Amino acid sequence: MKRRQFLATSGLAALGATTLGLGVASLARKAQAAPMAMTIQPARYALEGTVTEGMISLSPDAPPPVLRLRRGVEFVAEVTNQAEDYTAMHWHGLRIRNDMDGVPYLTQVPMGPGDRYRYAFTPMDAGTFWYHPHCNTMDQMARGLTGVLIVEDDEDPGFDLDLPVNLRDWRLGDDSQFIDLYTARGAARAGTFGTVMTANWAQDPIYDAPAGGLVRLRLAATDTTRVYRLHLPGAEGRVIALDGHPVIDPVGWPAPDAPLILGPGQRADLAIRMPAGEGAELALLNEQPGGPRSLLRLRATGEDLGHALDDLRPLTANALPEPDLDNAELIEFVFGWSPDDAPVNNGFCGTLGYTFWSINREAWPGDASASDPLAVLERGRTYILRLRNESPNDHPIHLHGMIFKPIASNRREVAQNWLDTAMLLEEETMDVVLVADNPGDWAFHCHVIEHQKTGLTGYLRVT
Ligand code: C2O
Ligand code: CU
Ligand code: CU
Repeated sequence: MKRRQFLATSGLAALGATTLGLGVASLARKAQAAPMAMTIQPARYALEGTVTEGMISLSPDAPPPVLRLRRGVEFVAEVTNQAEDYTAMHWHGLRIRNDMDGVPYLTQVPMGPGDRYRYAFTPMDAGTFWYHPHCNTMDQMARGLTGVLIVEDDEDPGFDLDLPVNLRDWRLGDDSQFIDLYTARGAARAGTFGTVMTANWAQDPIYDAPAGGLVRLRLAATDTTRVYRLHLPGAEGRVIALDGHPVIDPVGWPAPDAPLILGPGQRADLAIRMPAGEGAELALLNEQPGGPRSLLRLRATGEDLGHALDDLRPLTANALPEPDLDNAELIEFVFGWSPDDAPVNNGFCGTLGYTFWSINREAWPGDASASDPLAVLERGRTYILRLRNESPNDHPIHLHGMIFKPIASNRREVAQNWLDTAMLLEEETMDVVLVADNPGDWAFHCHVIEHQKTGLTGYLRVT
């Protein structure tokens, strides 16, 4: 796509503002009081005993804040780049106008050091989402810039505690300082894993929750690499939303033998009933080599509230498109290794210096200005995307700007819930159904960031 086309597409996206779904504009009742100022800047913080230098956040000494937006209320953020690198901010999972999506060269020109960009959009869906930069992500995300974004609904289901949880790792050496954030060996396989696992920038934190009370645990997997396999032994609970959207096809979890799989980019909202006894603990465990490891704990405090999961009112449904399966068109994608002669790839913005991965056996050539869309979709039509993983590694495949629903897999029963990221296991082929209802150029990539940055990226165009 040439520069000229970039501008043309942006104009097209602007036209789409009032026509997505029910109409974003008609949902806007009132704007927030003042634009939110967000400054991307260097930070330092003690994740372990010692302060880690060279982090990136939105304040000098704290994690990126949990943003709380409201469905139907316009959100305006003035994002200033005080880091030394180019950047752009992406609002993962939100179905918004294309020019607010934060993808360098595809939807906007990235911000250089000192630059500012105004993002303004009205969230149409309530739920748990997140935000992260989309430029040099293997550096900027790995150094800290990943945050939870919540879109609140007017109805409250009746939780006693709402707890957002930003799950992520850090690659630190023994001195608590960053070591190589990525490696060729990792990039060519499952990614390069962090050494310190955290929840909300803390190791195995303990949260107090009312005994016999109802907790909404909003889990967001914002790590660049790790696929979580989660258990919550002894808990009475259920999954109430995935990737922000209320579950419509119940997920068989918690179950002792089946982990909740949460790949990079994915979210799960859990409703949990705390044990009645004061001091009783529940631990969120991740399965890993060497045995399960606790990511966080909930500790029952105070007198038994005696609440029950069935007391909860259901989440209000988001206004989602209705797929027309009888007239759906099939589009196939294959995710795997790149051809040997693939040129060095630069992700959307910033290179790791090598290429290993591909979509449809072609590696992303390097930038949006040099590549055509993987597919052109007709606005309003239903498509079945057949996502085939021909590699032995897991790939969480993410689409911007729209959501899809898995309908079949060659490897397992799929729960038919709306998602923005499909977790493709080893050699898995999954069919997902999509209504192409949001015009523009939408990034489509693996959310294991080393895969994305080394070829497993592209975009879909909706016209
Ligand atoms: Cu979390 Cu391109 O996205
Ligand atoms: Cu995204
Ligand atoms: Cu991948």
